[in-house]
Amino acid sequence: ETGHVTLDPGFTNTASTTSAITYIDGDAGILRYRGYPIDELAEKASFLEVAYLLIHGELPSQAELDNFTDNVKRHTLLDEKFRAFFSAFPRRAHPMAVLSSAVSALSTFYQDSLDPFDAEQVERSSIRLIAKLPTIAAYAYKTSIGQPLLYPDNSLGYVENFLRMTFGLPTEPYEVDPEIVRILDMLFVLHADHEQNCSTSTVRLVGSSHANLFSSISAGVDALFGPLHGGANQAVLEMLEQIHTNGDDVESFVRRVKNKEPGVKLMGFGHRVYKNYDPRAAVVKKATRKALDLLGKPDPLLDLAMRLEEVALSDDYFVERKLYPNVDFYTGVIYKAMGFPTNAFTVLFALGRLPGWIAQWREMMSDPATKIGRPRQVYVGETERSYVDIKSR
Ligand code: SDX
Repeated sequence: ETGHVTLDPGFTNTASTTSAITYIDGDAGILRYRGYPIDELAEKASFLEVAYLLIHGELPSQAELDNFTDNVKRHTLLDEKFRAFFSAFPRRAHPMAVLSSAVSALSTFYQDSLDPFDAEQVERSSIRLIAKLPTIAAYAYKTSIGQPLLYPDNSLGYVENFLRMTFGLPTEPYEVDPEIVRILDMLFVLHADHEQNCSTSTVRLVGSSHANLFSSISAGVDALFGPLHGGANQAVLEMLEQIHTNGDDVESFVRRVKNKEPGVKLMGFGHRVYKNYDPRAAVVKKATRKALDLLGKPDPLLDLAMRLEEVALSDDYFVERKLYPNVDFYTGVIYKAMGFPTNAFTVLFALGRLPGWIAQWREMMSDPATKIGRPRQVYVGETERSYVDIKSR
């Protein structure tokens, strides 16, 4: 009667834990956050509304959302000493490395919210992370291009504040099309959670040692960095640019993929769970054309991506292996059009995924039944043998 999913006895043999946060049906291409379909949330809900939903389990009332938003606004600033942190890195540092270091460093500044079993401290560290990650991401970018850091402007909405800190200058007013703000907000919604993916598993596993939330999220950022996971959105754009440089020869690239040339994959395709079209990719694909039109930045890479999808989805090699576009296939084209450098794309993924990581960590902390146990290994090495002195080796 409560609409909860019931588990058949065999289910838990394949799943590492139970959770009430995100439901995925990989064969049907279904994704729901707390029961709400992803396409409805992407169309109707704001990112902070979805962050509240993932963390607290229910869509917020207006008063609850206003309070949540005000709390986030109160924490967007970084400690002034933290600003020096960014100048310690070389300008060519990858922002994901800066981000994970900065998130870990937050635990040194905010020692009043490290206890994973004190509800008030957990709420404070959750709000601090949601509020400060955009500031950290913007500061990492500004430092890499030698531009001054802009303080957050809390008269702006969450995403607009981030865009202004990233692209604004103290020398002139910053303006951005509200439609572009809405599209980035929606992209964050699409990335907000995804069940037990690599980075979320990492956050849960680190948290299962009762490490604080900042340390657990920092580990999740590192896991997301990998090109097979969050790093794929950067790898997709690099792949598209390489094909474009080679004369848009999609057919010969697909041949190289099918021949399994070392290091040649169709990035942005395939998924550990979706053996159907990733419902998020469908939403991103629609938004991409709209974003490029709004920005007046037609990009041949979009047409190339669509052609690549068309060729792949009509080729048995991909169809037999159930390889479809995933969330990363189109996002890079939008991020590039918005002005983000390629190496910042995965940082944008992290900004979106943050509330999901927090929600999953809090669920695990509050409900031991959802802990990932200590994984074991099946030993296949040498049987017992005695030590051999080095002279005899
Ligand atoms: C994300 O888990 C999540 O939820 C992740 C995520 C999230 O929101 O957190 O959705 C975000 O990480 C999306 C995935 C982004 N990664 C990429 O786009 C990188 C490219 N994709 C592949 O690396 C791969 O598809 C994986 C890792 C994503 C999934 O691999 P699977 O499902 O384990 O598939 P597999 O490695 O077992 O491969 C099955 C077959 C193999 O061929 P055969 O050995 O059977 O001949 O499919 C082939 C693979 O070689 N294959 C690909 C391919 N992906 C799989 N061939 C070419 N290009 C690809 N992208």
